[in-house]
Amino acid sequence: MPDPVLLVLDAAPSPRLGRLTGRADVRYADSGSLARLLPAADALLVWDVASDAVRAAWPGPGRRPRWVHTAGADVDRILCPELVASDTVLTTARGLFERPVAEQVAGLVLALAQDLPGTLELQRQRRSRPREGRRVAGTRAVVVGAGPVGREITRLLHGLGVTVALVGRTARRTIHGAADLDPLAARADWVIAAVPLTNRTRGMFDRRFFGLLQPSACFVNVGRAACVVRADLVDALERRWFAGAALDVFEDEPPVADDPLWDVPGLLVVPRPSGDRAGWRDRLSERFVALYERWERGEPLPDPVDKERGYVPSPDLSGVTGGRPAIAPPPPASAPPPARPVPVPDAGRDRPSDVPPPPVSG
Ligand SMILES: NC(=O)c1ccc[n+]([C@@H]2O[C@H](COP(=O)([O-])OP(=O)(O)OC[C@H]3O[C@@H](n4cnc5c(N)ncnc54)[C@H](OP(=O)(O)O)[C@@H]3O)[C@@H](O)[C@H]2O)c1
Repeated sequence: MPDPVLLVLDAAPSPRLGRLTGRADVRYADSGSLARLLPAADALLVWDVASDAVRAAWPGPGRRPRWVHTAGADVDRILCPELVASDTVLTTARGLFERPVAEQVAGLVLALAQDLPGTLELQRQRRSRPREGRRVAGTRAVVVGAGPVGREITRLLHGLGVTVALVGRTARRTIHGAADLDPLAARADWVIAAVPLTNRTRGMFDRRFFGLLQPSACFVNVGRAACVVRADLVDALERRWFAGAALDVFEDEPPVADDPLWDVPGLLVVPRPSGDRAGWRDRLSERFVALYERWERGEPLPDPVDKERGYVPSPDLSGVTGGRPAIAPPPPASAPPPARPVPVPDAGRDRPSDVPPPPVSG
């Protein structure tokens, strides 16, 4: 029996696949050659996670790999209707990024609370000015996205003394459903976005959403850039609807030098994805080789993507019927946050006047 053909959509530096020598017929493709090489492949490793080549090449003629693995956490660049409809198994690098991303979020929350950018600017100017930082302990966060990244962020923020509400798409036990997001966000000090890019989440953090936030709140995105309407975020920050924001992910990665985003007041731009920590490429290779060994033995692969949903479903979703979480969201205050889009405020006004002040307790 010939070795299975493993096609690698490559990017430098290439993955370390030496352990597969004599067990896989490893071939390499780039975006130009992928469509031609796909029909001969039994498995595809998407090492170039910034590429849209799979989505472009997959709908072509010929047979297709039985397994596709991406070295990233996301599948929105890969999925196309033909792949969704196929019986090809899709897996991700889930499990490798959670801790680094959560540490980054904790660091960003501490940096925003202490106005670290302002401190560094004062240091650059060799000046001192009396300022008061914010206490992080005792504040409230809402983490949007209850996957492994959102859960690890929740754990670390708990450790800082932050009360965290975790929001997924579906409510169960201690996880709120998406319908609870608005009232939770309206009383949060920190809103952390960690959702995958799907039809439902594209542009979900928009003008209407930013209009809900408290003036003292901060927004952090470590999920996918297109979940945020960038122009709306910039506009809301410039109007000081809320206190600050940090972006870890960008549609153009990294942002170009003359991107106006670098200069938006109150915005921390993190110029490299927080999941990229020393040794991460080697760990991605090791993870893939371990999965390959399972696959060649005919064993089921762990955590396959639900291609219809566009992400790996959480294990605690089985049997969930959409009930309320055990930790219920706060009751609405006498004047609840608007469920409909807030009217666009006039230029020069600080905040939409019909966004009520947040409840002070609950
Ligand atoms: N910045 C970085 O370096 C970096 C590194 C790795 C990952 N990430 C990003 O982190 C994000 C999270 O990754 P992950 O692996 O933890 O999870 P994931 O598999 O991408 O997302 C699954 C979670 O998202 C929730 N979700 C889906 N649609 C939703 C909606 N409309 N409203 C609220 N929640 C919704 C799901 O809810 P249910 O559980 O109810 O289905 C589930 O909890 C992704 O965007 C990924 O790209 C960033």
